[in-house]
Amino acid sequence: MPPPALSALRSLAPVGYATASGVCQSTGRTLSTMRRYYVTTFGCQMNAHDSERIRGLLEELGLGEAAAPDEADVLVFNTCTIREKPDQRLAAYLGNAKAQKSRSPETVVAVGGCYAEAQRDRIFERYPFVDVAFGPGTIHHLGEWLGAGGNGIARSAFGTAGERRFSAALATQRERPFQAWVQVSMGCNSVCSYCIVPAVRGREVSRRPGEILAEVTALAGEGVREVTLLGQNVNSWGRDLRPDIRTEFGELLRAVDEVDGIERIRFTSPHPKDFRAPVIAAMAECEAVCEHAHLPLQSGSTRVLKRMRRTYGRERYLRLVGELRTAIPDLALTTDLIVGFPGETEGDFEETCSVVEEVGFDGAFTFVYSPRSGTEAAAMLDQVPDEVKHERIERLVNVVQRVAAERNAQRIGLMEEVLVEGTSRTDPSLLRGRTRRNVTVNFTGSAAAGELVPVRITASTSQTLRGSQEALVAA
Ligand code: 5AD
Ligand code: SF4
Repeated sequence: MPPPALSALRSLAPVGYATASGVCQSTGRTLSTMRRYYVTTFGCQMNAHDSERIRGLLEELGLGEAAAPDEADVLVFNTCTIREKPDQRLAAYLGNAKAQKSRSPETVVAVGGCYAEAQRDRIFERYPFVDVAFGPGTIHHLGEWLGAGGNGIARSAFGTAGERRFSAALATQRERPFQAWVQVSMGCNSVCSYCIVPAVRGREVSRRPGEILAEVTALAGEGVREVTLLGQNVNSWGRDLRPDIRTEFGELLRAVDEVDGIERIRFTSPHPKDFRAPVIAAMAECEAVCEHAHLPLQSGSTRVLKRMRRTYGRERYLRLVGELRTAIPDLALTTDLIVGFPGETEGDFEETCSVVEEVGFDGAFTFVYSPRSGTEAAAMLDQVPDEVKHERIERLVNVVQRVAAERNAQRIGLMEEVLVEGTSRTDPSLLRGRTRRNVTVNFTGSAAAGELVPVRITASTSQTLRGSQEALVAA
């Protein structure tokens, strides 16, 4: 059954409605004539998850998904503004949307997510053809706007920071029936000097444990075997809860581990400063928690980390890695790295490369520092020239790939448990899936998507493994 708010929307008359901005005007266009939508997603997993909710909401409103943007009546852009590149990509996409709208003026253009929030005051000025804008965590307003007619009504930026809420009550259109994201918190209380996230997603709010567990239990009932717990800083989860239910992330991992049917638990992202002993113990002791941690380092230089306001240094990070590996010997570690942060010297940069070697990361997302207006680092005077940043990122990518290739090569000959996701993207005669350590494996065998199968690893690259499925041995 659709949530009550959405049922109410369905019954809204196409004329004579009121919006939150008090505007009341209509072209008489009804929901039944607004048939198809297309959602374009930029950025992180949180956005990918929000997009699932957006799709679910639009389906609830009676719209169907279009195969391509130019076949859609409603174009939704779920945006990211963490670096300049997504801003530029969005501008190109919006250029196409504008052209489409001038061909078919009925087209609705909706812009949600972090860019919409950051540009809240300017978005309609900058892009006059945008009909509705909504920030992260205010997806419900898109539904309210569309439900109120969705076309021909005044343009509106809905969803102020104070109205953010967890969208778990909304229906979801998941990519795969056996995997699901579960949001545990929104916002971030850190003040990393390069990062725009706290400004656009607000202060951290933890979702109540009972609500999270109810969602996980319901998902397991629908056949979900793998959940990924999502938050900007998952391991500070719980600290802002009411005293009577205050708890910490390790306890949440243990509770999710107890849910029947959940065989794999992942989480992203933890902040190294908050990765404490109870979480490490829970990871080691809970059968379903996978042997993988994505642990954003950002820089290998303590001096740079300090200017980034990460509140840990190189040594403390390495100590944490040691503690994790002692508790979970087969742990895979991945990370985020930024090069060219203001004031980064050649020596600082070399320290980042040397941590990659020392830790032996299984993979890393590498980013060129991108000044974000309004952040502390954007105002620093010692910005690094673009040529230097680009030269450094090339060198860093080489180190990361070499180390990851070495780590993957160590898996050859081992048996890995693989959750089948489909067929290989490059060779349809092979199956594709992920190991518990979160590495993609292309393999020979016969299994359906959603099955857990044993695969013997036979070859590797820096990004993927090759293997062959082994027969299940009776216990
Ligand atoms: N420039 C470059 N990379 C950034 N990140 C966050 N802000 C910036 C920025 N201004 C990276 C960090 C973070 C990841 C999600 O994006 O590495 O962990
Ligand atoms: Fe940004 Fe730092 Fe918060 Fe991550 S922890 S979202 S990098 S401020």
